Amino acid sequence: MTGVARIAGTLLLAASLVLAGSSAPAQKAPAPPFGDAMRGATPIPDSTRPPPVFPTENKDIRRTRNYAMQPPTIPHTIDNYQVDKDFNRCMACHARTVAQDTGAIPVSVTHYMDRNNNVLAEISPRRYFCTQCHVPQVEAKPLVGNTFVDVERLLQRKPGVLGSTR
Ligand code: HEC
Ligand code: HEC
Repeated sequence: MTGVARIAGTLLLAASLVLAGSSAPAQKAPAPPFGDAMRGATPIPDSTRPPPVFPTENKDIRRTRNYAMQPPTIPHTIDNYQVDKDFNRCMACHARTVAQDTGAIPVSVTHYMDRNNNVLAEISPRRYFCTQCHVPQVEAKPLVGNTFVDVERLLQRKPGVLGSTR
């Protein structure tokens, strides 16, 4: 390499370093403040202040299901209802044989079926613990939003429109 070429090379390198330096961000952007729908701004290691306990909706009005096989939500309070191996308080009202007297909706036939669809004489063990699937509701602001659309409305969408089934 000649002396001139070496000098030119050094200049080029210096110029590219200056360029690189100027295009690099001056400072790293600060991290966005921590926020979580359930925790609020409380950092992970700290305990949160428990949210207020909202009253359970107890209007005794059956709610619309959002899809055909949705377990209906419970329209009454279930405070202190015993459900264990000795007794099932829900079945004391919802069993097929007592529903006429209690006014409760009898559990449907699926609750008496085992996983091979054999219909059993008693409530199926897999449907014994009702609150696995059925839950009461409270009058509270939802913690997170959702964009659920009923399938009936999806069916009405024009073909080709986002979410259309045709
Ligand atoms: C004292 C009787 C009684 C007990 C105990 C009871 N229910 Fe009910 N349940 C009713 C009645 C009556 C209705 C009809 C709506 C109403 O009046 O609240 C009902 C409605 C429901 C519904 C709505 C069904 C639908 O098609 O919309 C669900 C789900 C339900 N109960 C689940 C439960 C569960 C789970 C338990 C136990 C944790 C339970 N119930 C305990 C009487 C009872
Ligand atoms: C594994 C989930 C699951 C469990 C556990 C379960 N259910 Fe259900 N339940 C459902 C589903 C799904 C439906 C709606 C479709 C159907 O009838 O199977 C339903 C429907 C119902 C209905 C409405 C019946 C009708 O004809 O409209 C009642 C009342 C009910 N359940 C009560 C109970 C009670 C009481 C228990 C506890 C003994 C219980 N369920 C346990 C999933 C469950």
